[in-house]
Amino acid sequence: MSKWFQDSVVYQIYPRSFQDSNNDGIGDLNGIRQRLPYLKKLGVDVLWLNPIYKSPDVDNGYDISDYEAIQPNYGTMNDFDLLLSQIHDNDMKLLMDLVVNHTSDQHYWFQESKKSKTNPYSDYYIWRDPVDGHEPNNWGSAFSGPAWTYVSERGQYYLHLFAAGQPDLNWENPQVREEVYSLMRFWLDKGVDGFRMDVINLISKPSGLPDADQDGGAAYGDSFDIVSGGPRLNEFLKEMNQKVLSRYDIMTVGEMPDSTPEEAINYTNLNGTELDMIFQFEHVNLGGNPDPRLEKWNDQPVKLSELKEALSRWQVALDGKAWNSLYWGNHDQPRVVSRFGSDEPRYRELSAKMLATTLHMMQGTPYIYEGEELGMTNVHFKTLSQYEDIESINAYHQLVEIEKVVDPDRMLDYLSFMSRDNSRTPMQWNDEKNAGFTDASEPWYALNPNYQEINAKDELENYNSVFYYYQSLIKIRHESELVRYGSYELLDPKDEEVFAYKRHYNGQTLLVMSNFTEQNVERNYQQEDGELLLGNYSDSQKYLRPYETKVYKFG
Ligand code: NOJ
Repeated sequence: MSKWFQDSVVYQIYPRSFQDSNNDGIGDLNGIRQRLPYLKKLGVDVLWLNPIYKSPDVDNGYDISDYEAIQPNYGTMNDFDLLLSQIHDNDMKLLMDLVVNHTSDQHYWFQESKKSKTNPYSDYYIWRDPVDGHEPNNWGSAFSGPAWTYVSERGQYYLHLFAAGQPDLNWENPQVREEVYSLMRFWLDKGVDGFRMDVINLISKPSGLPDADQDGGAAYGDSFDIVSGGPRLNEFLKEMNQKVLSRYDIMTVGEMPDSTPEEAINYTNLNGTELDMIFQFEHVNLGGNPDPRLEKWNDQPVKLSELKEALSRWQVALDGKAWNSLYWGNHDQPRVVSRFGSDEPRYRELSAKMLATTLHMMQGTPYIYEGEELGMTNVHFKTLSQYEDIESINAYHQLVEIEKVVDPDRMLDYLSFMSRDNSRTPMQWNDEKNAGFTDASEPWYALNPNYQEINAKDELENYNSVFYYYQSLIKIRHESELVRYGSYELLDPKDEEVFAYKRHYNGQTLLVMSNFTEQNVERNYQQEDGELLLGNYSDSQKYLRPYETKVYKFG
């Protein structure tokens, strides 16, 4: 028997950039409510909101100072209740973002914790004495610099795997875990339908907090590598499941950087004792810089054989044992069409549809990131001052100015290709002022100037648009058990031009062929014996044209 999350398509909303309703230039909850008919028309089942809780916004809401309050920019708790009930009235569900590896340093718990070694919150965070007057170990923060900050009141350092404004909670402390369960119940009792769990595989730290590997001249040790999948992770997730999750009819997806298929099976077995699925990173982490100090900062296309290998391994390994999440993009990734397809006007729509087909015909729960269904592209900023995100800005300062391992122009090229800011520009609703995102004179963040050509209004008026293509993909999934549950077989793994695979279910077969190049290529998989279900060109030829994709059904 399938569970509802296996039959669903999720749409991710970045609230700041989705729709402003009160003309302050910032997206909000009432804005999301106004756009429910659009989402209903697309056909998605579940909406996932990035954090909407009270936050000083050091990391755009991933630094929470009050888990039970709405960020005033986004509206009020009444606005939230109304949004939730209208989502339910529309037969859709709502996932909240659960950020409990860390809080904001402005959270009451941290404000108290940092005062002394003896207060009731003193053990809510991970505090350590200096070692020889320095940080307790070599761990680096994901946002550059050390993962430790010194607080003179305590004479100790606290751990933050992200920004200094995001201290890590001490999950070893049972009181901390009970606080987390209680805030989860607060939202579940309101009726939310589940959680996307931020970096949940980092909550259990290795005992003794040993130094991490520090390869190739990197300034700090690789903290994610040593922390992810820590010794008590299974135990914590089981406890959370038993005390909270199992008591509600909900879905959960755990963000797990650096995880393997074996770990996914371990944390998301289909028995429902921990989580329902995870976000793995293998396909989006491809194409990193050969210089390990530069990590993800690069501007080179990924080899198709590597992309196929990464995605296919998960398809095969999890089949019947766990459940995949399927995503190309989110608020931490550049726009998929610019990264894995082409954002040149003549190929943009074709490659957006091709990429969507390649992913949506796989086994798992697809996640669509806002604007992806329009084929929105990277914004291609030219100067550092145009960037807003802490990761991008800190990486520039660290790598260009402090470590001097890359020159400024090259780093700007890397940011233009890989920065998270690319996906955070406002939604492009129409070709009018501020793309219909806000009536304020300035949106909180620059619009991609291409909103004149790429916007929802035009796409809704054109049946060949990327929007309607996504609508078809969602419909096919809803109607086809073969698409939802079929097993997966990769064809020709070494082919660097075409991504072809089959799905098998109850004697039926699906064949997907996607041309990742700008050339015509011919492949023979006896497709002429099948029924053409979907394609991104209006007619059919014997060969595949640039970025052509085709889906055939047999039996
Ligand atoms: C993962 C989130 O998706 C990202 O946006 C955030 O910066 C980090 N976790 C820290 O919470």
